[in-house]
Amino acid sequence: MILNQTAAALAAVAAFSTLAMASSAPAPEPFGRTADGTPVEVYTLTNSRGVKLRAMTYGAIVLSLDVPDKKGAVADVTLGYKTLAEYEKASPYFGAIVGRFGNRIAGGQFSLDGSTYKLANNNTPGGKPCSLHGGNKGFDKVVWKAEGLKGDGSQGVRFRYLSKDGEEGYPGNLQVSVTYWLNENSEWRVEYEATTDKATPVNLTQHAYFNLKGEGSGDILGHTLQIAASKFTPVNEGMIPTGEMRSVEGTALDFRNARTVGDRVNSKEEQMTLGGGYDHNFVLDNQSGSLASAAFVFEPASGRTLEVSTTEPGIQFYCGNFLDGTLSGKSGKKYEHRNGFCLESQHFPDSPNHSEFPSSILRPGKTLRNTTVFKFGVK
Ligand code: BGC
Repeated sequence: MILNQTAAALAAVAAFSTLAMASSAPAPEPFGRTADGTPVEVYTLTNSRGVKLRAMTYGAIVLSLDVPDKKGAVADVTLGYKTLAEYEKASPYFGAIVGRFGNRIAGGQFSLDGSTYKLANNNTPGGKPCSLHGGNKGFDKVVWKAEGLKGDGSQGVRFRYLSKDGEEGYPGNLQVSVTYWLNENSEWRVEYEATTDKATPVNLTQHAYFNLKGEGSGDILGHTLQIAASKFTPVNEGMIPTGEMRSVEGTALDFRNARTVGDRVNSKEEQMTLGGGYDHNFVLDNQSGSLASAAFVFEPASGRTLEVSTTEPGIQFYCGNFLDGTLSGKSGKKYEHRNGFCLESQHFPDSPNHSEFPSSILRPGKTLRNTTVFKFGVK
């Protein structure tokens, strides 16, 4: 009886402190220094349902995301490292904000308003050079300014970064802000804003790798996936879109009805061999620019679900084909082939070189505004 009372009292204190935390803006805590000595801070967002998101100012990287399963057991569902040094050394964009331009630009080059711009060719799929995820030092490798925020029933952190005119070859001083919110519906909301003083391509995305069983617990092939897309943008041998928007009908990329990722991941279809598995941009059925459900993921053993909604016209589904056991994650386990997946809401890859795709050009006087919501639940 006394034990029970003690337990009840402890539970009440815990519930109170969670509520108290949720009702205040998160404060920064030190996370270390970059190799060049810049201090990096971490912000922790919580809700009363046991969800906890930690994000740092280096790359606006989500370090961990704890989510309960159907029995209430909490696991960290994002891949990543424990220390800043590991992120600086080699990271396939674990948990990061990718920019100035997410995904590939063919030949590291584009023309805009009569000028040609050259970017770093930091990637060579199929032996074809291209610029990937913003170049050599993209937004995932810079230290952002940050402030903790308190919303109505939510906690947030706003990251800001000024990408200077000419940085990584892109034109214009680009002022970027990315805000993460966590609310009582277990929604992690990502709000993007950007303005520029010269026309420039912009394509910002969140590159979290998820495993709804928990990071470090094997592959993600048993997760079921549904994507609200009737078309995708096929790629060539350099993983660059050909320009076609092709129907998913009759292909391994047809996720209009939920099925497991593993079901057809090893299909010998040309697109699947070119991608080494799923690594494709889906043309979402919603092209209105307003927030709509884009993808739904379910992991049967844990019962965890993830719904992704976005205002963006596309989503890259990447199933971790390049993970090969070389990197070990935060709990010391090796990240093997397909141990995590990304759902990167975005404008289409290489869109600066494809006038037939929705434009990714931001012009002075305009404000880019996009939102993506990752909603966690159980079933
Ligand atoms: C791309 C992959 C790439 C990965 C980097 C994804 O967004 O689609 O092709 O290898 O990022 O880790």
